[in-house]
Amino acid sequence: MTVSVLFVCLGNICRSPLAEVALREVCARSGVAMIVDSAGTADWHAGRPPDDRTVAVAARNGVEASHLRARQVRVSDFRDFDHIIALDNQNLSDLQALRPKDASAELSLLLDHVKGRSGQDVDDPYYGDDSAFDRTWQEVMAAAENLVARLRQA
Ligand code: 4NP
Repeated sequence: MTVSVLFVCLGNICRSPLAEVALREVCARSGVAMIVDSAGTADWHAGRPPDDRTVAVAARNGVEASHLRARQVRVSDFRDFDHIIALDNQNLSDLQALRPKDASAELSLLLDHVKGRSGQDVDDPYYGDDSAFDRTWQEVMAAAENLVARLRQA
């Protein structure tokens, strides 16, 4: 069965779309098939493309992100995905509150998948500058590489 992964942040226009395209990119490079999606705990930006700075940092790293559209996380995601990965601890506690009793998805924090960073937040770059988005890209890429290495053996 193909492993499925959903990344979740607050707005689904900065961090989780970057995690989505980073994981897709590492899968493509590694020849690994995975179902990858992203969502926000809030519905503020539902239907909209990512933030311009999200599209720009992805493009600086050779990856397309402008086709993505934001959506809010839904209860059925807990049954539809194998892994739901929160970008920060607030997202994780919001997801824990939404989690239905029959959830099959395994919940974790993105930086739990990066050695030495377990339990840490991917800081929200929304109020930051381009360097904040560069840092986000590095964090989501590091996690994506480790996830592909681990989940391809699952
Ligand atoms: P994200 O960033 O959760 O990484 O997508 C944010 C995007 C929008 C807002 C906050 C965070 N906002 O307040 O609209």
